[in-house]
Amino acid sequence: MTSGRTPLIAGNWKMHKTVEEAEAFIQGLLPRVSSVEGVDVGVCVPFTALQAMVDSTRGSRVDVYAQTMHETTHGAFTGEVSAPMLSELDVHGVVLGHSERRQLFGETDRALSQKMLAAFDAGLQPILCVGETEEERAREETERKLRNQVQEGLERLGPEQIARVVIAYEPIWAIGTGVVATPEQAQDAVAFVRALVGDKAPEAARQVRVLYGGSVKPDNAAELLALPDVDGALVGGASLEPGAFAQIVGAATA
Ligand code: 13P
Repeated sequence: MTSGRTPLIAGNWKMHKTVEEAEAFIQGLLPRVSSVEGVDVGVCVPFTALQAMVDSTRGSRVDVYAQTMHETTHGAFTGEVSAPMLSELDVHGVVLGHSERRQLFGETDRALSQKMLAAFDAGLQPILCVGETEEERAREETERKLRNQVQEGLERLGPEQIARVVIAYEPIWAIGTGVVATPEQAQDAVAFVRALVGDKAPEAARQVRVLYGGSVKPDNAAELLALPDVDGALVGGASLEPGAFAQIVGAATA
C-alpha cells in the first residue's frame, strides 16, 4: 500500500443471522483469514449476536462492530442501545448513518454528528456511511449530498479524532442491487470524500480510511480495492457467507 493506510474489509450483516448462525459463520471465517496480513477485518452484527461474536473472535484478527447506536449514554429511549453499552461488551466499533437507517428509521445528520462524538467518547471506532440516491446522481447533486453528510458527521470532532474515522461511501443505487459503481465513479466519489475531510483537517485527509460499499462481490473486489483512494470495502450480501467474504478479504492484500 503506497498510501500507508491499512485496508479495512467490513461485512455488514444487516438483519441476518441468529447467534447459532453467527457462530457457524465465524468458525468458517476464522481459519480462512488467520494468515492474511496487512488488512483489518470486521463483522458488523446484530445486537443479539455481539457478545457471542466478541467471545468467539477474541485473540483473532476479526473485529466486531455494532450496526447502530443512540447518541446519548442513557435515558428514556425504549429499544435503543448506547455507546457505553457497546464498549462494555468489548465491541470494537459501530456503523453510523447507514442509508437504511437514514431512509427507513429517520436517522438525521444532526443525530449522527452527536453519535460520532459519542462513539469516540466510549472508545468505539465509528464507520460513517455516506452516499447519494440514483435521483441525486442523475441531478448531479452527488457532491452536494456528500458534502452535507461528511461535514455534519465530522462537525463535533477534533482533528485527531477525524484522522481515526472510517468513512464508507455507499451509493444507495448500488446497495443490494448488483449494480456496482464503475471504478471511475468509486474513485471520484471516494477522493471527493477525502478532499472534504481535508477541508476540515488537512493532516487527517491522508490518514482517514475511506471505504467503498455497494454490491461488492468476490469477482469485482480486486478492481475496486486497487483504486488509489479506496481503503477497503463495506460488504453487505457477500459478507454473509464465509468463503465469499474471505475472498474479498484476500483481494485487499493483492
Ligand atoms: P450490498 O453489498 O449487499 O450491496 O450492501 C452494501 C451495504 O449496504 C453494506 O453496508
